[in-house]
Amino acid sequence: MTMGAGGESWDSLWTNCRVATMAEGGAPYGLIEDAVLAIKADRFTYVGPRAGLPAGRAREEHDLGGACVTPGLIDCHTHLVFAGDRADEFEQRLNGISYQDIQKAGGGIRSTVRRTRDASDEELFAAAAARARRLIAEGVTVLEIKSGYGLNLETEARTLRVARRLGRELPVTIRTTALCAHTVPVEFDGRADDYIDEIVNHMLPELVRRDLVDAVDGFCDSIGFNHAQTRRVFAAARELGRPVKLHADQVSAFGAAELAAEHAALSADHLEYVSEAGVAAMASSGTVAVILPGAFYFLRETQPPPIDLFRRHRVRMAIASDCNPGSSPSVSLLSMLNMACTLFRMTPEEALSGITRNAATALGIEASHGTIEVGKAADFVVWPVRSPGELSYWMSPILPVSVVRAGGCVRLS
Ligand code: NIG
Ligand code: FE
Repeated sequence: MTMGAGGESWDSLWTNCRVATMAEGGAPYGLIEDAVLAIKADRFTYVGPRAGLPAGRAREEHDLGGACVTPGLIDCHTHLVFAGDRADEFEQRLNGISYQDIQKAGGGIRSTVRRTRDASDEELFAAAAARARRLIAEGVTVLEIKSGYGLNLETEARTLRVARRLGRELPVTIRTTALCAHTVPVEFDGRADDYIDEIVNHMLPELVRRDLVDAVDGFCDSIGFNHAQTRRVFAAARELGRPVKLHADQVSAFGAAELAAEHAALSADHLEYVSEAGVAAMASSGTVAVILPGAFYFLRETQPPPIDLFRRHRVRMAIASDCNPGSSPSVSLLSMLNMACTLFRMTPEEALSGITRNAATALGIEASHGTIEVGKAADFVVWPVRSPGELSYWMSPILPVSVVRAGGCVRLS
């Protein structure tokens, strides 16, 4: 296209598409009609209408036939590396035992910890890679992965190493999060404070030293850790120079969102029981609300997160799969989009922002990811739809025509 002497040189040009850039402020979805994307190396160098494209030459050109393009999808909250499943607990719950009671009786997170500790690195990698491939096939180009099913230094390190390896061997960008404070492991039974000592004095510093940690998370709730314990984990993260996130107010109104905001957390996640004071605090600290419809649905929660309060206080909302064996056994981010709209009445545009721009903010990578803009990583998805709203509409997810990450076509076979 636009051949001629001189001018720009691009690695690839993508023409004849409707681009939902998801850039803030402008048209709904940041939509550009009859758009062209120009890519050099792994970045966008032109994003705009065909008419505005400067003269230049491309090594490859792709005519997209009017298809819709979105940013690469970002799943900003997963527990992807674990062994086994919890189908037995699903059955127990259907026979009337609650998630909380299963957890108190030594099941729940602890049962996955037992299996994860027993699994080899190769088993953990194979299981997690299979899940990651399904997310990538749906258009995910950035994936956050938490530890939290190891709960000792060795197994937390192994799960985070597996996460890093996924980023080297699969076409996806991985962000790791240390969730040592997920629950109290059995060897510290009744000694939660001692386990927190172990986390802050030993586990976190060592995991950071091994470069396995991009962020630090905790579970602050009536069946998790209390405020004082969570504060200690956050203080350690700060000392180690890592941002924090928090599983907050999932099963009870615990004031956890306020605590997250007080520590300028990147995100507070779940939030079904957050108070208005918590929402206001999140607004002041710029903490993203990560909405997890899968866990809400699978645990048959009845109190939805207060979407209207987030809107009113202008708290950014992200949406994630929360892929884990206990509360959200799902590897479909687009299903979460549909659920966020049907269960929580989010709009399709809010939902798509939640797995692109706002998900990037929840990971602290908004300067380089989350929207289709010049200078950002050339991560995008070509969809067989005309309108981006259609991505939220289908209950069984649409599959992309192409997924491009860092300027290159993603191939999974
Ligand atoms: O995000 N809330 C705590 N953690 C996970 C569930 C963990 C599990 O049940 O294995 C969550 O829902
Ligand atoms: Fe989670």
